[in-house]
Amino acid sequence: MATDLEHELADLLEVASFPPPQAFAKTAQITDGSVHEAAERDPEGWWLEQATGLLDWYEEPTQSLDDSNPPFYKWFADGTLNASFNCLDRHVEAGRGDRVALHWHGEEGEQRAVTYADLLGDVQRFANALKDRGIGRGDVVGIFLPMIPEVVVAMLACARVGAMHNVVFGGFSAESVRERMEFSDAKALVTVDGARRKGKTAPIKASVDAAGIDVETTFVVRHTGIDTPMGDGDVWFDEALAAADAQCAPERLDAEHPLFILYSSGSTAKPKGILHTTGGYLTQVAWTHRYVFDLRPEEDVYWCSADVGWITGHSYIVYGPLLNGATSVMYEGAPDYPDKDVWWDLCERYGVTIFYTAPTAIRACMKWGPEYPGRHDLSKLRLLGTVGEPINPKAWLWYYLVIGGKRCPIVDTWWQTETGGIMVTTLPGAQATKPGAAGTPLPGIAAQVVDEQGEPVPPDTQGLLTLTRPWPGMLRTLYRDDDRFVSTYWEKFGPRTYFVGDAARQDEDGYLWVIGRVDDVLNVSGHRMSTAEIESAIVSHPKVAEAAVIGQADEDTGQSVAAFVTLEGAFEGTDELVVELREHVALRIGKLARPKRIIWSDDLPKTRSGKIMRRLLRDIAEGRELGDVTTLRDPDVMAQLQGRVQELQAEE
Ligand code: PRX
Repeated sequence: MATDLEHELADLLEVASFPPPQAFAKTAQITDGSVHEAAERDPEGWWLEQATGLLDWYEEPTQSLDDSNPPFYKWFADGTLNASFNCLDRHVEAGRGDRVALHWHGEEGEQRAVTYADLLGDVQRFANALKDRGIGRGDVVGIFLPMIPEVVVAMLACARVGAMHNVVFGGFSAESVRERMEFSDAKALVTVDGARRKGKTAPIKASVDAAGIDVETTFVVRHTGIDTPMGDGDVWFDEALAAADAQCAPERLDAEHPLFILYSSGSTAKPKGILHTTGGYLTQVAWTHRYVFDLRPEEDVYWCSADVGWITGHSYIVYGPLLNGATSVMYEGAPDYPDKDVWWDLCERYGVTIFYTAPTAIRACMKWGPEYPGRHDLSKLRLLGTVGEPINPKAWLWYYLVIGGKRCPIVDTWWQTETGGIMVTTLPGAQATKPGAAGTPLPGIAAQVVDEQGEPVPPDTQGLLTLTRPWPGMLRTLYRDDDRFVSTYWEKFGPRTYFVGDAARQDEDGYLWVIGRVDDVLNVSGHRMSTAEIESAIVSHPKVAEAAVIGQADEDTGQSVAAFVTLEGAFEGTDELVVELREHVALRIGKLARPKRIIWSDDLPKTRSGKIMRRLLRDIAEGRELGDVTTLRDPDVMAQLQGRVQELQAEE
């Protein structure tokens, strides 16, 4: 029998659009379209006003966009500033040093309230520790840490001395860390003795050692206290802090000084080192964090459940909230440990008012059932957000109803590692939300859905999403690879139209409905992965001859990884080998890249020129009618593969 909740969900599925809830709109900072209009009249002038209004500069910029050398755009280029000063010093100087920046909550229930003054103290000491080791402007520092306050200290200390941080998500393997340190020529690495996950401890420093990472200094945060090998060039983080001077003046940096590199998956096996600079990036994340989340720093408690190792963590756990002087929750652990209500327990405990998460997490909570949030008082929540992948209307409505109690608008924020900050969404006090649509371009942002030739398509027609005007938070290049930067984003439609790589449609109201990637990039639980990278990991196994990886639609994770694998002659596809290959991928890339399904195949569908036809593999995996097979070298392959997939599905 259908429950009341199911009835209510079914009724709401009929509702196409939700205006801002009245109580919310009453106090919202933006309640009409005037900001959009002001920005549209003079986007560059408007952005310059935001830059000078939201940030403290040593020298205020007088220039906004410099588009003299597209696609190498610059923003606010004659200004100078420092990111860590803007995140910390200015709040402390204004008497807000005692404000809690982070309510840190450990997996075993430990709590630490870290104030702005605490952060500033540690950041200055760690900045000096970096300087003492010759690390400064333009150097790269790797960071491989779990969700602990030291990750923020390490990032901001880099920013203070003008070094670029290169954070690697804690779920990646040590092998991936090694690769990213090599690609970026990192001088130092900040890591941890061990990381905790659901009651277990993983020895991180030991695995980093085993991967043979070659940096001059490795700083090791003492977190779990497990036995940890320390060799030449290894320094305990706390000892480095204790030995360092307490004062460190921030470097005065050009607005275009690089702030960080963040590696992200592209359509080849080699990840892309996305480079962000200082003034433009900070302007956009400060603006979006303040107005998309309608943040009131004195009253709100904000929580973004992402990991700091992704762009969402950089922009909306670290820089956005700290620039705005917000109080945030930072949680170390998993959403289902010690129990499936831990997130809602934290919302109640810390009085969270703004909560930002991914659709995949909402779908998991939906599956676990409303009784878990039902155990807690969530009445302080006033705004909800999502990011990372399209959200299906049912999950949207569940979030709206069960978590938000119909009081909270939901901002569905579309953006990318490359865009630095949120680009498309709804301003929650001014615009209605539509379940499943991200919204409209934010003030100052311009987007268009076009066909393959770059011509705009009519409303409600699927096409390719493009961004037709530079924006302050945009990536400036791919680290040490300008050519790939140009060819990936600016070749298809020219140097003034950014090729996003997503399919989308725009409705009559200008709302964008993002459909998904059009390249060989997968989105598993909101995490971006490259088919080529996973294939290359599988093929590096000695028993494998060839592999093709595709994304398969998945109810829980959006997409899941399916691998079609051809073994070397003598080997047979056994269950043990499935386990072995999955483990192999976990070691090479990380657990998140492990294929959910492995389909043994004697051959793969290829064109006569030898190109694997992934489109057909996707059709097979999703049980669709096969597309055109006439260009195949050996059409019989398809029948065999279809049989295998059906067998697998029957077993599941
Ligand atoms: O396909 C889009 C999807 O995630 C891609 C960007 O991935 P990444 O760089 O890892 O950044 C994720 C967090 C910002 C996009 O090209 N995507 C992101 N947000 C949304 C989305 N798809 C639909 N709706 C969204 N809100």
